[in-house]
Amino acid sequence: MERPEAAVIGTGWCGGIRAETLARSALCRKLHICEIRPDRLAEVKALTNPASATLDYQDIVRNADISAVYICTTPEDTHFPIARDCLKAGKHVLLEKPIAMELFEADELIAIAKRSNVKFTIGYSQRFNPKIAYAKKKIADGTLGRPVSVMVSRHLTRNLGKKIAGRTRLSPAAMESTHDLDFAFWLLEPAKPARVYSQGAYGIMQGINGSFDVMWTTVTMDDGTLVAIGGGWNLPPSYPNYCATWMEITGTEGSLFLDDTQRDNWLNTASQGTQFPMSTMPGEQVDHVFAGQMGPETLHFLESVMLDRPPMVSPESARAVMECYLAADLSAESGEPIEVPMNNQALAAVQDLYKKFRAPV
Ligand SMILES: NC(=O)c1ccc[n+]([C@@H]2O[C@H](COP(=O)([O-])OP(=O)(O)OC[C@H]3O[C@@H](n4cnc5c(N)ncnc54)[C@H](O)[C@@H]3O)[C@@H](O)[C@H]2O)c1
Repeated sequence: MERPEAAVIGTGWCGGIRAETLARSALCRKLHICEIRPDRLAEVKALTNPASATLDYQDIVRNADISAVYICTTPEDTHFPIARDCLKAGKHVLLEKPIAMELFEADELIAIAKRSNVKFTIGYSQRFNPKIAYAKKKIADGTLGRPVSVMVSRHLTRNLGKKIAGRTRLSPAAMESTHDLDFAFWLLEPAKPARVYSQGAYGIMQGINGSFDVMWTTVTMDDGTLVAIGGGWNLPPSYPNYCATWMEITGTEGSLFLDDTQRDNWLNTASQGTQFPMSTMPGEQVDHVFAGQMGPETLHFLESVMLDRPPMVSPESARAVMECYLAADLSAESGEPIEVPMNNQALAAVQDLYKKFRAPV
């Protein structure tokens, strides 16, 4: 079996994790990296000893030996053009969420991937969280009976909130609850989302980019199952890089409560105060092990390419998630529930809303 050459475009935080994971793995024949910040490129080059390192992603697109590409760039509006060019060039692509900024862009990427006959997946890393994989298993094997409700409450530190919110106005539903919408819909397959209602509350983030601090979104599935997802990004800086999640799943025959609040590892130092190591959403490399989900997710994609298997996350499911967080944004603004798939009137209202979001604050 041919071991692929892989490339990472955008070697910031997540791209750095993916590059390091690939560099450590025997599955990756050669690693190539691309980053527009020369200092960060040099840093990741020193860490991963790649076959090539470039400032221009077109070098990756043009390199016929590279078959798998991980696109980890920010700001998020870089995702569409880079993914489009890589897919058109016949590369298999793992693209960090969000799949795109506009639904028509997501549709175009899905169509190009189909035409090019390549694998295309989105980095919904939480599906590689063992606790969430366990929930999927317990629903699929009938232990919980017919699912009745899924509740997820997720809080991020404001350090991360500011980093994310600083680059573009995307809501906590779009940037954070997106992971929970993805895995809740995955848990509840084949049910599909039917109606979205969301409310948001302002706090510290409003002054930074106009966003809510916290949003609660309820989604009614077409079989009546209720999904309730809270996402916030305003925890004080004493939670550096922290992400805490609590989940409650109920069914007709059982319930499953999952504590992913990350309070089980508590480091305290005189200089930095309280820290919760290994509590970030992607996780981190800890010497010889990867603590978290992004490492296994990175290798899963390479294995999908090698074994010609479908990756865990289909781009169509990522598009469905995108439609729901757009509906959540519209609902939080209008105070009305939104039916999904959205009708033309709702889609036009989303366009207007995002024009407003993207206007200078
Ligand atoms: N799955 C998860 O758990 C998870 C967690 C955090 C972030 N994310 C997603 O991952 C993506 C990356 O987030 P991050 O926190 O690593 O961001 P980051 O800002 O730390 O890194 C992005 C990097 O992309 C580089 N870049 C921008 N344009 C480029 C280009 N044209 N060519 C090459 N490099 C380019 C930037 O210089 C930067 O270093 C985001 O879209 C985010 O939504 C996913």
